[in-house]
Amino acid sequence: MDKFVITGGTALQGEIPTSGSKNAALPALAAALLTEEPVTLHRIPAVRDIRTMQRLLVDIGCKVDVDGGTVRLHTERVVCPEAPYELVKTMRASSLVLGPLVARTGRARVSLPGGCAIGARPINLHIFGLEQLGARIEQAHGYIEAVATEGLRGATIHFDRITVTGTEDLMMAAVLAKGETILRNAAREPEVTDLAAMLVKMGAQIEGAGTSTIRIQGVERLSGAEHAIIPDRIEAGTFLIAGAMTGGELTVTGCVPEHLGALVSKLQQTGVHVTQPGPDSLQVRGGNPIRSVDMTTEEYPGFATDLQAQYMAFATQATGIAIVVETIFENRFMHAQELARMGANIRLDGKQAIVAGPTTLTGAGVIASDLRASASLVLAALVAKGETVIDRVYHIDRGYEKIEAKLAHAGAKIRRVE
Ligand code: EPZ
Repeated sequence: MDKFVITGGTALQGEIPTSGSKNAALPALAAALLTEEPVTLHRIPAVRDIRTMQRLLVDIGCKVDVDGGTVRLHTERVVCPEAPYELVKTMRASSLVLGPLVARTGRARVSLPGGCAIGARPINLHIFGLEQLGARIEQAHGYIEAVATEGLRGATIHFDRITVTGTEDLMMAAVLAKGETILRNAAREPEVTDLAAMLVKMGAQIEGAGTSTIRIQGVERLSGAEHAIIPDRIEAGTFLIAGAMTGGELTVTGCVPEHLGALVSKLQQTGVHVTQPGPDSLQVRGGNPIRSVDMTTEEYPGFATDLQAQYMAFATQATGIAIVVETIFENRFMHAQELARMGANIRLDGKQAIVAGPTTLTGAGVIASDLRASASLVLAALVAKGETVIDRVYHIDRGYEKIEAKLAHAGAKIRRVE
């Protein structure tokens, strides 16, 4: 397993580019199942989860041609409307093929995702929504089978709680259903809005994406389309925090500043100098003393749970006490123990993590657990005294494209060891 070896203490400087969003690319790839015509996607990041999704689509019957960041997909015929356990257990976002398969073929057999490091993460709301659209669902042997032989029919679906991929899955099911579907308490994440934009290019009729109520008029069929997905706001946010922690002057380029409003506001509250040099870039300038500021994760446009671990690493360098509250997942503080091994002063109390700072971090051997927890260990290592070795970096490779090359280019002393 690859490791990262990082020597802390250098400030990040200059520019660091943002790749396409993994969490926008995954539903966009699944959406190619909805038409028998070719679909072309641009700015697809070369990360593990994307390769997993592409492999799943090929097994289903989609021809996938990868040319750098451009991916051409063509599902002339679905030969196997299934998402097997072997793939789903490595990437729960495989459930994003559920809606498109039922919409396109009238049936789907998808493995239940099973457990995950950060929480139970069931897909009951995806299943409930499909039943509302008229699918018959059976659960057996760790799989769910959805059948809608007469096709799906529009319905009003009210989500018990906001679910990003649940909203995306059911949006993709509804675009070919007969009649109108209304999604209430829908997720407002930019990745949902981006998927809707792609589906509209394919001929779907969708209004209200990006708000809590999305209206979809079903159509007979969808055509192919070409779409460039949005930049990765979580990757960009991770780099902004890295710049703020190391006290450099770092410009994150190729991002969408408005997708990072909650983080920028929070960083400014702590005393970090954040500016917007251009329409698609954000700059942090460290050097000011950093004050501790509480943070609570919320669905978009609130502070993203996917940036919580990174913010916790940042808070170890702030002066005072910061209370970090994780409201989205029930077990997303695994990074706290690893940060504590590096010298952080963090006390966990249920949904809260109380971070006292500033603490001097020292390099240590640490183990990555989930994607964003691993990112927070990289950030801590960038400011720690001495050398940190992070094991199991395949977790990072799931969602960050060439992170060590990007950070090294900005001045970090980081290298990958096979
Ligand atoms: C998406 O996961 C993201 N993944 C996650 O990013 C992100 O952390 C999460 O949204 C929250 O923003 C992708 O987009 C591929 P949810 P998702 O459904 O859709 C509960 C990363 O690091 N829930 O919005 O799976 C669930 O357990 C990943 O890139 C149900 O109870 O998250 C959670 O507590 C990690 N039943 C809450 O809702 C359901 O049917 C929000 O989950 C669905 C969800």
